[in-house]
Amino acid sequence: MKITLPTGKTVESRSGESILSALRREKVYLVSSCGGRGTCGKCKIQITEGTASRQSLMKLDANEIANNFALACKAFPDTDIAIEIPKESRLLIGDKIAVGRADDLARLAEQLGCALSPLVRRVPLVIAPPTIDDNISDLERIKRELGRAGVDAERLHVRYDLLREMSDVLRDNDWQVTLTISTGELPELLAIHSGTEAAAHYGVAVDIGTTTVVVYLIDMLSGKLVDVGSTYNSQMRYGDDVINRIVHATEHGMIEQLQQAVVGDINNLLDPVLERHNLKSDDIDSMVIAGNTTMTQLFYCLNPEYIREEPYIPAANAYPEIHAGQLGIDIHPNAPIFTAPCVASYVGGDISAGVLASGMARREGFSLFMDIGTNGEIALGNREMLVTAACSAGPCFEGSGMKCGMRATEGAIEGIEFDPRSFNPTLKVVGGGEPLGICGSGMIDAIGDMYLKGIIDQKGKLQPVSRRVREGDDGMEILLSGGRREVVLTESDIENIIRAKAAIHAGYSVLLNEIGFTIDMLDNIYIAGGFGNYLNIEKAILLGMLPDVDRSKFVFLGNTSITGAAICLLSGAMRAEVKEIAAKMTYVELSVSASFMDEYMSAMFLPHTDMNRYPTVLAKMGV
Ligand code: FES
Repeated sequence: MKITLPTGKTVESRSGESILSALRREKVYLVSSCGGRGTCGKCKIQITEGTASRQSLMKLDANEIANNFALACKAFPDTDIAIEIPKESRLLIGDKIAVGRADDLARLAEQLGCALSPLVRRVPLVIAPPTIDDNISDLERIKRELGRAGVDAERLHVRYDLLREMSDVLRDNDWQVTLTISTGELPELLAIHSGTEAAAHYGVAVDIGTTTVVVYLIDMLSGKLVDVGSTYNSQMRYGDDVINRIVHATEHGMIEQLQQAVVGDINNLLDPVLERHNLKSDDIDSMVIAGNTTMTQLFYCLNPEYIREEPYIPAANAYPEIHAGQLGIDIHPNAPIFTAPCVASYVGGDISAGVLASGMARREGFSLFMDIGTNGEIALGNREMLVTAACSAGPCFEGSGMKCGMRATEGAIEGIEFDPRSFNPTLKVVGGGEPLGICGSGMIDAIGDMYLKGIIDQKGKLQPVSRRVREGDDGMEILLSGGRREVVLTESDIENIIRAKAAIHAGYSVLLNEIGFTIDMLDNIYIAGGFGNYLNIEKAILLGMLPDVDRSKFVFLGNTSITGAAICLLSGAMRAEVKEIAAKMTYVELSVSASFMDEYMSAMFLPHTDMNRYPTVLAKMGV
């Protein structure tokens, strides 16, 4: 059967294949938070011509059912069909993605004392040609010259492919060449270039997030950031969270597809970057990646099954150096890849890189680090000790599992304030147009403000203060916007957010208990993650997600995973430090922590059962 898209392009669907899967094969991607199980309702399409069997009408309202809307993952063409794809169902590139504080990189590198020492070095050599009296082999001749240049040539490992071409390259270039040698524990000859002129020499740092992929191109001669690229992680078509990805990789046997999806993203980001700067892919000869444990394992195509099963064991925390060509990355095939080390199944290299970038592991005072992204990871400590945990906050702050939830893309309500008398909301919408849904910062704003204005009670239950509060298809809801598409927040959405904030609150409370600290004893609270860029602190405190402490202690760091990866790319000292950080971190498994449940249950109220922990909220509410 043929599926005609709104552009007029047609896609062939195979027998028994869902519309979602047929579109995906043709690289037309829809939001599919639940990975195609038919439970998220995010992959809606409208069938405008022909007929399709709709195996599930769940998540469709009466109006949508009557107008031939369908869940693309649960709809199968009976005839040739034509479809419309609503804007909110499209997985678009180029939305607000946290690319880190790119302009701060040089300052941070200086602050942390990152002397430039890349993963590879270029060594120009002018070699004396052989004579009858000096007749050592070509390789020995290279090693002798390298020794004179201060390289530990005796231990030098030479790749077979280079050994095969070496003699000709030396002679073709009059014995004047530049060698690329890795600076890892075992020096390795990675490339032989013609001549001794300083050639282009670049590195790439990559943050592989569950939701987004960010790359930094860095000039390894000057240490300067040259360009930045970002996109959504294409693995999103297999589900929003790591569990759905693991299920696809293992139960559906799709690990290669998941690996290729993210490798494809990195290559697609590098293509235009290289073109913009007139570079060849071989000019990039080193790479650092940072990602959570599942993303790291999928990048290396390592079976992630045991991450998900008790006792939750990753394949590796520290990764050996691997060459880009082994994974299909379009840079110099022999470029070494350094991986920010992971700590446990749910605390990955993104957190060790983030803690490195925050500088908290160098300070005497204690700090709390919170990375609130697709999940919530936290670390607590100072230069002597570090404890860490994963909070299982879930991806609700990125819109997943919420009736009108969406990412912070065009049309998302990102800010909201209710009138204290009429309870009508004033909305701030990404892009300024018609609201299509609500993103994480909008939800925090809405719930914080609704609590302050008495629209919800301490348990998050909606109060009948206005006609906007009404009974909907999924229980009680509040109407935020009534345009072409109604945007509502349901009681179950509010409950979802309260559960997530309670998990974060309980997570840092347990870590504080572990080291016998109270929140006011901390010097700094670092907030990282894409979400951290747009978080309204006051509303997050009203919600009880952030502690009610001196506001000057909060420091927003943005995407620290990419910043940490970039400083590791620049400096050997930073690579050593990130390894030390990961090795030093004690992982606390919250699911077996005796106090976690108590802390969690106490935090299931707004802002908390113990209101004395939130003095400024009490003052705001006139208590
Ligand atoms: Fe279709 Fe979730 S309902 S992907």
